[in-house]
Amino acid sequence: MDPKHRVRKAVIPVAGNGTRFLPATKAMPKEMLTIVDRPVVQYAVDEAIEAGIEHIVFVTSRNKSAIEDHFDDTPELISSLRLAGKSHQVSELERLLPRPGAVSFTRQQAPLGLGHAVWCARDLIGNEPFALLLPDMLCYGMRGCMAGLMDLYNETGGNIVAVEECAPEETSKYGIIGKGAAVRHGFAVTKMVEKPHPSEAPSNFYLNGRYILQPEIFDILARQERGAGNEIQLTDGMLRLSETQSFHAQVYNGRTFDCGSKHGFIEANVAFALARSDIGGLVYDSIRNLVVSHEAQMTAA
Ligand code: UTP
Repeated sequence: MDPKHRVRKAVIPVAGNGTRFLPATKAMPKEMLTIVDRPVVQYAVDEAIEAGIEHIVFVTSRNKSAIEDHFDDTPELISSLRLAGKSHQVSELERLLPRPGAVSFTRQQAPLGLGHAVWCARDLIGNEPFALLLPDMLCYGMRGCMAGLMDLYNETGGNIVAVEECAPEETSKYGIIGKGAAVRHGFAVTKMVEKPHPSEAPSNFYLNGRYILQPEIFDILARQERGAGNEIQLTDGMLRLSETQSFHAQVYNGRTFDCGSKHGFIEANVAFALARSDIGGLVYDSIRNLVVSHEAQMTAA
């Protein structure tokens, strides 16, 4: 692939208010809520790196400095861990530290919507295609969702989205796409609608928060047109871009948890904990015991 079409950079927007998770998110960014023992945003960064991304642009906002600190070095902590002989933890922290200069931060001054957050990254991305990962949409599977999108991108170029199926009555919660002709790693997108009523939804394939987009999206988002919820919606911008450029979709063969919702966050914690070799067995036993005693209480009540 021509180097100018290669996807080198990723945008991770972290500037939202996280209102569904108040009061936890009053002083702490929702992207720093932990899944087992690492913040949810760390999973998105790992997924981007697995897919070959070389530079990450965070779109951040006030009260989110914990995210910058998380991706910075911690020399005092590392030396005290070394002194304590905790070499395993030292290697883990060193493994997670981004290469110097490989992350940038820019600010979205007001949470005007995802489309606006993406537009705020325009100068740092420049005139090249980029990956976009919504960190609160946590992908769980054998292979990262973004790595799969790269396969499809190498086949088709253009713009790529990842999708999953939702229950037909739940389309009004998501961005929904229409399904067109198949290609080897996915299919063409015929339509995109933000939160359609089930009677108007073109399918039950919802956007799960992983995208590869061409830089022309920035010119469209610059118009700052408001959509659903009076926000500047990325889906509306993508729909406009699809009038002149190709969009393809790939069905993610793992599972995405919406960690911006309480239910999705708890479910993700359980799923990731069960999969861990160090604590999975303990967590399994605890859940089983909790369910048994909960059922006994319900029966007695
Ligand atoms: P969400 O819509 O899930 O985030 O956006 P939110 O607005 O923080 O959540 P609620 O509905 O109030 O609970 C998905 C991602 O886009 C970012 C969020 O930080 C999240 O990572 N986002 C959203 C922004 O960066 N800016 C925005 O204006 C909106």
